[in-house]
Amino acid sequence: MSIRDKNIVLGITGGIAAYKACELTRLMVKSGANVNVIMTKGAAEFVTPLTLQTLSRNPVHTDLFSLTQEAEVGHISLADRADLFVIAPATANLIGKIANGIADDLLTTTIMATKVPVLLAPAMNCNMYENPIVQENMNKLKGYGYNFIDSETGELACGYEGKGRMAEPGDILERIEVILSPKDLKGERIVVTAGPTYEAIDPVRFIGNRSSGKMGYALAKMAVRRGAEVTLISGPSSLLPPRGTRFISVESAEEMRKAVSVKLKDATIVIMAAAVADYRPNKAVSEKMKKGAGSISLDLEKTEDIISEIGRKKGKRFIIGFAAETDNLWANAKKKLKEKNLDLIIANNVKVPGAGFAVDTNIVTIIDNKGTLEALPKMSKDEVAWKVLDRVASLK
Ligand code: CTP
Repeated sequence: MSIRDKNIVLGITGGIAAYKACELTRLMVKSGANVNVIMTKGAAEFVTPLTLQTLSRNPVHTDLFSLTQEAEVGHISLADRADLFVIAPATANLIGKIANGIADDLLTTTIMATKVPVLLAPAMNCNMYENPIVQENMNKLKGYGYNFIDSETGELACGYEGKGRMAEPGDILERIEVILSPKDLKGERIVVTAGPTYEAIDPVRFIGNRSSGKMGYALAKMAVRRGAEVTLISGPSSLLPPRGTRFISVESAEEMRKAVSVKLKDATIVIMAAAVADYRPNKAVSEKMKKGAGSISLDLEKTEDIISEIGRKKGKRFIIGFAAETDNLWANAKKKLKEKNLDLIIANNVKVPGAGFAVDTNIVTIIDNKGTLEALPKMSKDEVAWKVLDRVASLK
């Protein structure tokens, strides 16, 4: 969210991981960033400036003393206009140069001239990575406030196995988002619930719902970006837990209730995005049910309403609920907000195309406890999460 319309300078140095810088460029452009690429001479041996120019939709800068490039942009103006520098891959050589104040080409000169955050994604042979001089250079730079995204351990292009592989472009993008996000939720401890719950009928069958967990996972991810400590309590979902969250996996409404009540003591904000089952079979049988000749019926009992329970012992906590409706959206949502003692409710009509369960977008109305309505247009669940957190940050 935060990278949109930002000026990012991507520095590429000469290593095989330079090919991954192409994907990183594509991802940043897709997220709405204006990307200017600076390549060292070595980088241009691995990928061509034309590739990066096509992907970034901007001229690529390669040579400090190119008269035309200097006249058009100039290394100082490139540094001035940037919101963030990312160097991917960052070789041992480049790291050594910055750590020792050497500025002998366009990239190192521009880095030296910038005051904005710099993120380095090291990539090198594992023995080079472990070299104490390289380690010392990295530590020195960290001390000066440079950001690093750690290399990964695995198979290296040189045939070795070890630490030194550049972080994946998607992870680098996420770190950029984190660096650029406001930290307006710092100090908050947020519990987010997500996904469906499964209520067992027997060892192989359950009652569930169509929730994918996408809305809750988006909220957890965005809250981490904005500096909060986040515990994500999730029912069954195929999604990967967002980086930086404390993740608790549960299955039934009762398991979710217990997990929430343990984490509640510490929480300053609770966001119940989970589609908790309202009913469960009143006795789950321990052996698989056998098919008989006639029809059967299931006896269901109510589950505990988790958010109402939180609402009753709310204290100073800020509580946010969701209302999944198919009719009378605002009236039903307002009723839930009041009855469950919430601060905000996010109302969505799950029948409208592009909203509700299992899709990447949502159409929601944010309602606060004074009855103020904010109807948002259709947007990605990431964007909805961002907007919800804007409201939380302004009301807290
Ligand atoms: N919720 C909960 N515990 C339940 C059921 C719901 O904490 N057992 C929470 C949901 O996470 C959501 C809010 O209550 O934040 C509203 O859920 P929703 O399903 O829209 O409403 P219900 O209260 O279940 O009412 P109904 O299904 O009749 O609309």
